[in-house]
Amino acid sequence: MFSRPLRDPDTPIRETDTDAAIARLSAVRKHYLQDPFISLFISQSQFIPPRPPLINLGTYVRSKIIDDLIIDWARVMTNSSTPFQIVSLGAGSDTRFWRLAVSLVLNIFMLCRDKRPNSLGWATKQRHNYILRGIDLRNLTDFAQTTSLLDPSVPTLVLAECVLVYMTKEQSNALLKHLTDTFSCVGAIVYEMYGLNDDFGRVMKANLKTRHLTLPGIDAYVTLNDQISRFLHTGFTRGHALSLKTLRYDYVESEEHQRYVRYNFKKREQPDDGRLNKLEFLDEVEELDLVLNHYAISWGLKPSELLEETIQKGTADWGVTRKTSTIE
Ligand SMILES: C[S@@+](CC[C@H](N)C(=O)[O-])C[C@H]1O[C@@H](n2cnc3c(N)ncnc32)[C@H](O)[C@@H]1O
Repeated sequence: MFSRPLRDPDTPIRETDTDAAIARLSAVRKHYLQDPFISLFISQSQFIPPRPPLINLGTYVRSKIIDDLIIDWARVMTNSSTPFQIVSLGAGSDTRFWRLAVSLVLNIFMLCRDKRPNSLGWATKQRHNYILRGIDLRNLTDFAQTTSLLDPSVPTLVLAECVLVYMTKEQSNALLKHLTDTFSCVGAIVYEMYGLNDDFGRVMKANLKTRHLTLPGIDAYVTLNDQISRFLHTGFTRGHALSLKTLRYDYVESEEHQRYVRYNFKKREQPDDGRLNKLEFLDEVEELDLVLNHYAISWGLKPSELLEETIQKGTADWGVTRKTSTIE
């Protein structure tokens, strides 16, 4: 008799990457986002139906704000003439390397094959540009071995897009603390659910359970302040957190609206709703607000001494800017 092999309990967690990639593909097809690479990560992508407008808009807000934070990090570092490195934790099908390579680092195409054992990727003759490693982030020893491939003196931006919530608070804090202990200047961007201690959260957790998914990190993060505190307890000196709902209305849509108004103004037409409102008909406004209010983007910084000085003087800071709808 053969017994059925036990399914790896981590398989459902890995599969969440397919959900994220499909949501991104859908947002691209509906023209919320541009990403020529995402369809290459999804098998038979041509047969995948679009996701509902609510998911497309949420994916857009999440992606746009994280991209804005990365671009702003690049601006701050370029102003101080500092090269920097980016680490994507639980990257899954994250296409950012290729999107950034095309837009920022054109010489990336002068490549040779990386010869290091246990690493896949590409390197220039001088230094690595891209390293991909499969590790369990809950294992701090493995994580420390991986970060030892990086230069601790180079400012480092760490992305954790919907990944820390799959670990306990102790595991994710150990990981963040390792980052601030290792790098002289480090920023981290975290995107995940929070505040799932209400009815919405209970339904979401029950739905995830049917897919054999639990969120060991969720109960420690009830409020946005909890998201900020995680940074301040792990060696970062600054922390910020905003819900996707706030980010949508105050940081993304008003910018889109402003752009649209300016465009139409030139054409001497009446100002109208923003571009986003024209992409798809959204009739689940309250539901959307409810969902977006349970996701947050937070970011923490441990600056170098030099960056701290410029921040203190008010000549540099890292973050996203609240937009207004005023026509200049
Ligand atoms: C929801 S997906 C997000 C993927 C990608 N960051 C994005 O936003 O498109 C979660 C990812 O985190 C990874 N992940 C979760 N726990 C992990 C762990 N302990 N070690 C390594 N990766 C992990 C999963 O394998 C999956 O790729």
